[in-house]
Amino acid sequence: MASTDRNAPLRLGTIAPNFQADTTTGPIDFHEFIGDNWVILFSHPEDYTPVCTTELGEMARLEPEFKKRGVKLIGLSANTLGSHEGWINDIKDVTGSQVQFPIIADKERKVAYLYDMLDYQDTTNVDEKGIAFTIRSVFVIDPKKTIRTILAYPASTGRNSAEILRIVDSLQTGDKHKVTTPINWVPGDDVIVHPSIKGEEATRLFPNLKAVKPYLRFTPLPKDA
Ligand code: BEZ
Repeated sequence: MASTDRNAPLRLGTIAPNFQADTTTGPIDFHEFIGDNWVILFSHPEDYTPVCTTELGEMARLEPEFKKRGVKLIGLSANTLGSHEGWINDIKDVTGSQVQFPIIADKERKVAYLYDMLDYQDTTNVDEKGIAFTIRSVFVIDPKKTIRTILAYPASTGRNSAEILRIVDSLQTGDKHKVTTPINWVPGDDVIVHPSIKGEEATRLFPNLKAVKPYLRFTPLPKDA
């Protein structure tokens, strides 16, 4: 049962807190934005910074891959809309990719506080007033608005876009086939039959199952799965 307690820390299984915000594609209500889609909400420390520029260019380049999987992207940076709009032009100049998805203008850190995207340890990651910048958080949210994955990177380390796509593939594959995915799994590799599927039900659902141990049962999935 997903938690909706707004005072509870955000955990996997929490309903993504709703908020209203201004974005580069217009004002949004976050739950309306999610609708029936998967959503990746990802934060940046600040506009016109080098690592963030490469990250946003790459997410814009990969947007069609996310769309194919029914995933909407939404970024966040702790600056104003006007600043975001100028930065989007720079991102196009530098990376060749046009950011089409919304970027939340979170100068006041309203959403950043709600999603605990702030830096606790790195006291250099602050603006001119000493207010903490956002870190590089990633929230993968499913169509039921449940948080399914939380990643947090320091400002100094750019994210791995292939890993974000891989997480989406793993979650969607797992939901569809009652399987889990092993270390370094990528689509096409064998998956692991979920421990809750026992005995004959497992062999009926997965006729090519290979039991390495009673608790570790690999299976291929059909090619079009
Ligand atoms: C960057 O995107 O390069 C960056 C942003 C804030 C602090 C450090 C690096």
